[in-house]
Amino acid sequence: MVPPKPLLFPTTKHHLLKFDGLLIMLLLLFPAFVDADCNTDDKDSLLSFATNFPTLNWSAMVDCCSWDGISCDKHDRVVRLSIPKRRLRGTLPSSLQNLTNLSFLNLSNNFLSGLLPDGFFSSFNNLHTIDLSDNYVHGNLSNILPATIKEINFSSNSFFGTIPPSICINSPALVILDLSLNYFTGNIPQGFGTCSNLQVLSLGFNNLTGKIPTDINGVRSLQHLSLPGNSLTNEIGEKITSLTNLRSLVLFGNMFSGSIPLNIGKLSLLEKLELHINRLNGTLPLSLMNCTKLKILNLRVNSLGGRLSDFDFSNFTQLAIVDMGENQFGGVLPKSLFLCRSLTAIRLSTNKLEGEILPDILELPSLSFLSLSNNTFKNIIQALDILSSHEKLTTLILSKNFFNETLPAAGISGFQDLKILALGGCKLFGHIPIWLMSLTNVQVVDLSVNNINGIIPGWLQTLPNLFCLDLSNNSLSGSFPVELTRLPALASQHVLDHVNINYLELPVFVAPENASYLQYNQLVGFPPSLYLASNNLRGGIPVEIGNMQLIHVLDLSQNYFSGTIPGSISNLTNLEMLDLSRNLLSGEIPSSLKGLHFLSSFNVAFNNLLGAIPTGGQFDTFLNQSYEGNPGLCGPPMQRSCSKRSDPPPPVSEHKKGPDIIMILGPFLGFCFGFGIILTCQAFLILSERRIFPKWIHRYVIWT
Ligand SMILES: *[C@@H]1O[C@H](CO)[C@@H](O)[C@H](O)[C@H]1NC(C)=O
Ligand SMILES: *[C@@H]1O[C@H](CO)[C@@H](O)[C@H](O)[C@H]1NC(C)=O
Ligand SMILES: *[C@@H]1O[C@H](CO)[C@@H](O)[C@H](O)[C@H]1NC(C)=O
Ligand SMILES: *[C@@H]1O[C@H](CO)[C@@H](O)[C@H](O)[C@H]1NC(C)=O
Ligand SMILES: *[C@@H]1O[C@H](CO)[C@@H](O)[C@H](O)[C@H]1NC(C)=O
Ligand SMILES: *[C@@H]1O[C@H](CO)[C@@H](O)[C@H](O)[C@H]1NC(C)=O
Ligand SMILES: *[C@@H]1O[C@H](CO)[C@@H](O)[C@H](O)[C@H]1NC(C)=O
Ligand SMILES: *[C@@H]1O[C@H](CO)[C@@H](O)[C@H](O)[C@H]1NC(C)=O
Ligand SMILES: *[C@@H]1O[C@H](CO)[C@@H](O)[C@H](O)[C@H]1NC(C)=O
Ligand SMILES: *[C@@H]1O[C@H](CO)[C@@H](O)[C@H](O)[C@H]1NC(C)=O
Ligand SMILES: *[C@@H]1O[C@H](CO)[C@@H](O)[C@H](O)[C@H]1NC(C)=O
Ligand SMILES: *[C@@H]1O[C@H](CO)[C@@H](O)[C@H](O)[C@H]1NC(C)=O
Repeated sequence: MVPPKPLLFPTTKHHLLKFDGLLIMLLLLFPAFVDADCNTDDKDSLLSFATNFPTLNWSAMVDCCSWDGISCDKHDRVVRLSIPKRRLRGTLPSSLQNLTNLSFLNLSNNFLSGLLPDGFFSSFNNLHTIDLSDNYVHGNLSNILPATIKEINFSSNSFFGTIPPSICINSPALVILDLSLNYFTGNIPQGFGTCSNLQVLSLGFNNLTGKIPTDINGVRSLQHLSLPGNSLTNEIGEKITSLTNLRSLVLFGNMFSGSIPLNIGKLSLLEKLELHINRLNGTLPLSLMNCTKLKILNLRVNSLGGRLSDFDFSNFTQLAIVDMGENQFGGVLPKSLFLCRSLTAIRLSTNKLEGEILPDILELPSLSFLSLSNNTFKNIIQALDILSSHEKLTTLILSKNFFNETLPAAGISGFQDLKILALGGCKLFGHIPIWLMSLTNVQVVDLSVNNINGIIPGWLQTLPNLFCLDLSNNSLSGSFPVELTRLPALASQHVLDHVNINYLELPVFVAPENASYLQYNQLVGFPPSLYLASNNLRGGIPVEIGNMQLIHVLDLSQNYFSGTIPGSISNLTNLEMLDLSRNLLSGEIPSSLKGLHFLSSFNVAFNNLLGAIPTGGQFDTFLNQSYEGNPGLCGPPMQRSCSKRSDPPPPVSEHKKGPDIIMILGPFLGFCFGFGIILTCQAFLILSERRIFPKWIHRYVIWT
C-alpha cells in the first residue's frame, strides 16, 4: 500500500548510533526533509494526538505513514488509524478530527473515556469504519455518525440515551452496527427498515424495552440480529420471518412471550437460534424443521411444551448443540434427535420427559455433553450400560431421575473419556460401585442425595483426575478413609495443573442450597472440593488430611466424627470453606487454623469443643453461629469470656506461607469469596497467583 520511499538519510540503527547528535540536530532544523513524503498536516495532527498518549511509540523522526498502526493512501494521506490494545487512556483529542482523509479508525480495547461530542466525526469525508469497542466513552448517538459510515462498533462503552430513528437515513451505507453492552434505553426505534445494506444489528445488553419494531421486515439484507440481555417484551412476531437472509437470531435474556414464530422455517439459512431465558410458550413450530442449516438451537428456560417426539429433528444434519432445558417438554426422547449426527451437546434437563435411554444414543458419534437431569427417566442399569460404551462422552448429568432404583454394582465398563458424572438426587440404593475405578479421566463425581450405604472405598484414591467428590446426604458408614487424603488432584499441584478443565460444550449449572444457580462455562471456575456431609461416618479425622493441599471446600458436617480437630488442617492453605459442624469433635480449635488466609466460611457448631476460640486472621470475621452448641468454647465472638487461667494456646507453626501481601489481604480476600464481589477483588486475586473461583459452593448442590 505504501510505496517505497527514497532515503534522504541512512537511518539504520548503526548510523543513528554513530551520528545521532548530528541527525537529531538536522531533524530539528529540517523536519520536512526526512519525512518529505508524509503529509505534514496529517503528521502534525498525529503528533498532537500522540501527546495525549505516551504509550504510542511513534517517532517524529520517520515517515508517519510507517508508524505503528498508521496506513496512508497513494497521496500519502493518512487513511487508516488502527491502534487497539495500546493502553490509551483519557479523552479522544480533537486533533483526531484533522485527519480528514481517514477511512478506517480502530481504537478498540483501550481506556478511552469522556464525552464524544456531537458531530465529532463530521469532519471526515470518507470514514467507513469506526471501532471504539471496549472503552469507556459516553455520549448519545444523535448526530455523531458520518454519512459515509459502513461499520460502527461502539460495543462495551458507556453510551446512553435512546437509539435515534434516523441512523439509516443519515448513514444509508451502514452494514454493521454494534451498540451492544452500553446503557441505551427506550424502544428500538422504527427506521431500521430503511437500512438497505445492514447485515449485522447488535443491540444486546442494553436497557432496551418495548417490542421488536414492526418495520424490521424491511431490513432484507440482515444476516445477524442480536438483541439479548434487554427487557424486550411482547411476541417475537411473524415479521421477523421475512428476514430470509438471517444466519443468526439471538434474542435470549428478554421477556418475549407467546410462541416461537410459526413461520420460522422461512429462515432457511439460520445457523444459530438462541431464544433462551424468555417467556415463550406453545410448542415447537413444525416449520422449524425447515431450518436445515441450524448448528445451535438454544431454547432453555422458557415455558415451551408439547411432546418432544412430535417434532421431527431428522433434517438438522448440522445441528451441534441443542439446549431445551427448563421447559415443559413431555414424552419420550425423540428418535429423530438421534439422527442429528453432528450433535456434540444435548441438554434436556428439567422437563417432563420420561421413558428410558435407548441404544440409539450411540448413533451420535460426536456427542460429548449430555444432561437429562430432573426428568423422570427410568432404568439406570440400562442407561449406564448403554452410555458407558459411548467413547466420546465427557459430561454426563443424569441427576434427579431413576428414583429409588439401585446403582448397578458391577457390569459397567467404558466411560473412557468421562470427566463429569452427576447422579445426585436420585435416591439411589446400593454401594459406591467398583466400576467407578475404571473412570480414569473423571474429574467430578456427584453421588449426593441418594441412599448409598456401605463404606467410602479407599480405591477412590486411584482416580488420578478427581478433584471434586460429592458423597453428601447418603447413608455411608465406617471411617474417613486415609487413602482419600491421597487423591492425586487434591494433593499435588502438579497433578491438578495437568487436569484439563476446558472442555464443556455447554455451561453446567449448579444449584446450591438457598441460592440461585451458579453457572460454570468451564470447570476452571469450580473449586476442588470434598463433600461428605450428612452420612453416618465415625472415628477421627485423620491427621493425613493435611495432604489435601489443593482443596478449597471441605464439608464433613452432620456425621459422627470424634476426637480432636487435627492441626494439620492448617496445612490446607487454599481452604475457603471448612464445615465440621454437628459431629462429636472434642478438644480445642487449633489456633494454627488462623493461618488459613482464604477461609471465608468456618463452622464447628454443635460439637464438644472447648477452650478459647482463636483470634486473628480470618477468625476475626466469623460470627457466633460458627461456634454455637459447644458449651466449652469461650472468647469472642461468644459472650462467654475465658477464665484468665486458661491454658496457653498451642504453639503456632510459624513458617511463612507465601508473600506478606497475602497476609495483609487475607481478610479482604475472604470477603471477596464470601460475598462474591468478584470484580473489585480480581486485581488482588491476581497478586496472589492462585486459581480464582467466583464463589465457593455450599452443600447439597445439584448439577443440571
Ligand atoms: C486542526 O485544524 C484546525 C483548523 O483547520 C487548526 O486550527 C488546528 O491547529 C489543527 N490542529 C492540529 C493539531 O493540527
Ligand atoms: C510499537 O509498538 C507496537 C505494538 O505496541 C509494536 O508492534 C512495534 O514493534 C513497536 N515499534 C517500535 C519501534 O518499538
Ligand atoms: C482528502 O481530504 C480533502 C479534504 O479534507 C479532500 O479535498 C481530498 O480530496 C481528500 N483526498 C483524498 C485522496 O481523498
Ligand atoms: C480492531 O482491533 C481489534 C483488536 O485487534 C480487532 O479484534 C477488531 O476486529 C478490529 N476492528 C475492525 C473493525 O477491524
Ligand atoms: C442527545 O443529544 C442531542 C443533541 O445534543 C439532544 O438534543 C438530545 O436530547 C440528546 N438525547 C438524549 C437522549 O440525551
Ligand atoms: C433500565 O431502565 C429502567 C427504566 O426504564 C430503570 O429503572 C433501570 O434502572 C435501568 N437499568 C439500568 C441498569 O440502567
Ligand atoms: C402463552 O402465553 C400467553 C400470554 O403470554 C397466553 O395468552 C397464551 O394462552 C399462552 N399459550 C399457551 C399455549 O399456553
Ligand atoms: C418446508 O419447506 C418446504 C419448501 O421448501 C415446504 O414445502 C414445506 O411446507 C415446509 N415445511 C414446513 C413444515 O413448513
Ligand atoms: C427436510 O428438508 C428438505 C429440504 O432439504 C425438505 O424438502 C423437507 O420438507 C424437510 N423435511 C421436513 C420434515 O421438514
Ligand atoms: C427440578 O424441576 C422442578 C420442576 O419440575 C423445579 O421446580 C426444580 O427447581 C428443578 N430442580 C433443579 C435442581 O433444577
Ligand atoms: C421412592 O421411595 C419413597 C419412599 O420409599 C416414596 O415416597 C417415593 O414415592 C418413591 N418415589 C418413586 C418415584 O418411586
Ligand atoms: C503439609 O504439607 C507438606 C507439603 O507442603 C507435606 O509435605 C506435609 O506432609 C503436610 N503435613 C501434613 C501433616 O499433612
